[in-house]
Amino acid sequence: MAETVKLAYQGKTYEFPVLEGTCGEKAIDISTLRTTTGLITFDPGYMSTGSCQSQITYLDGEKGILLYRGYPIEQIAEKSSFIETACLLIYGELPTREQLDYFQYHLVHHSMVHESIKNLYDGFPNNPHPMAVCSAIVGSLATFYQNELNVRNEREVEIAIHRLMAKLPTIAAYSYKKSIGQPFQYPDNTLSYSANFLKMMFSLPCEPYEVDEDAAKVLDVLLILHADHEQNCSTSTVRLVGSSMCNLFASVSSAIYALWGPLHGGANQAVIEMLQNIHDDGGDVNKYVQKAKDPNDSFRLMGFGHRVYKNFDPRSRIIKKLADKIFSKPGAQEPLLDIALQLEEIAIKDSYFIEKKLYPNVDFYSGLIYRTLNIPINMFPVMFAIGRLPGWIAQWKELQEDKQFKIGRPRQLYKGSPKRDYVAIENRQE
Ligand code: ACO
Repeated sequence: MAETVKLAYQGKTYEFPVLEGTCGEKAIDISTLRTTTGLITFDPGYMSTGSCQSQITYLDGEKGILLYRGYPIEQIAEKSSFIETACLLIYGELPTREQLDYFQYHLVHHSMVHESIKNLYDGFPNNPHPMAVCSAIVGSLATFYQNELNVRNEREVEIAIHRLMAKLPTIAAYSYKKSIGQPFQYPDNTLSYSANFLKMMFSLPCEPYEVDEDAAKVLDVLLILHADHEQNCSTSTVRLVGSSMCNLFASVSSAIYALWGPLHGGANQAVIEMLQNIHDDGGDVNKYVQKAKDPNDSFRLMGFGHRVYKNFDPRSRIIKKLADKIFSKPGAQEPLLDIALQLEEIAIKDSYFIEKKLYPNVDFYSGLIYRTLNIPINMFPVMFAIGRLPGWIAQWKELQEDKQFKIGRPRQLYKGSPKRDYVAIENRQE
């Protein structure tokens, strides 16, 4: 028999169905709550609210499990590529060779941006933050393809997906080049997605440039690890904006801004700044662990703890292995690595961190790896955006195809003044 939940209110009893997810998690379906009882729910930060049913990503924060379309992140990171992962997330299944070639072909053939887009970069002030530039340029794509933005036209949506996936690395690399005053480098369609990005970032027209294939592989894995994380802040943004039937470019542009905030995509930058501070302060790691534990000190160990993971973040384990591999290479020097390792070793044995279930999260090592790839700190959130793009697209597409599609429109509990009459300005009290 289907499970239900009973609500007793003002002498009446109401019954609501309990829905069950594939992996056993349960949700009360309260979609008829207001019409039957007149009540709404109140849940700041959506701590107990499921906003949609989704088939894309499953995560269990207690057990440290992350699945993309059912496949464990550990297997995907080891065996797949970022482009194949994007296909999986967006279209639902691991692609056949033919499907992968088709997707790859279209990404390659849409990688350049319209020449007029380059002029837009000149409109920004000197040294603009690349995240702001990326979001603005992604939004501007809607002006270049304004006759192909119908969200209910399958073909137009497909072209928009190809365009966005293909062009974001170009837009991102141009925003970096603009910020340091170097000429834009055209994409190289003979290279893989990640290798092409590195070339656009670091090559110059006046000298030859050879992509370090190991670096491209490492970047590919980092992008895979960031590719989706169910209904986080930026993904919920892409769904909410998309729920007004707004086009893909505008919806993703909004998601990039949502990701920019320090509580979301900015944490890997905060980790590097913290490690640098500890280093510059003489490297006394214990002192900072004590500070983090002190209830009278607002200092927190950046890169530790997560709203959902109350166990090891599975992505952090993969990144740790990646970091071990990179930093054991001859010549790979990272003065902050030693501090990070000491910090992790002390923190994971400390009762404060154990009791509060604070483990290293995905951001703890990703910043250090980006540094070895020579990616500057203000590009860290942009790297996160490139990685998260397939997830945003998959979630936006799933929403548009949802039979129960509805514009997103939460309710509120009004706590302002009750109705009152307008007061003329001369009668208002100081
Ligand atoms: N260092 C020291 N103490 C911490 C830390 C930390 N990094 N994180 C949480 N705590 C403590 C809090 O002080 C609090 O203690 P209390 O119960 O005595 O008041 C307790 O642990 C719970 O912390 P909350 O902030 O209530 O937990 P929440 O789930 O809301 O926050 C968050 C999670 C924001 C990630 C938090 O752990 C944090 O600030 N971490 C550092 C920043 C960071 O690494 N963010 C990246 C997140 S991953 C991502 O966005 C991709």
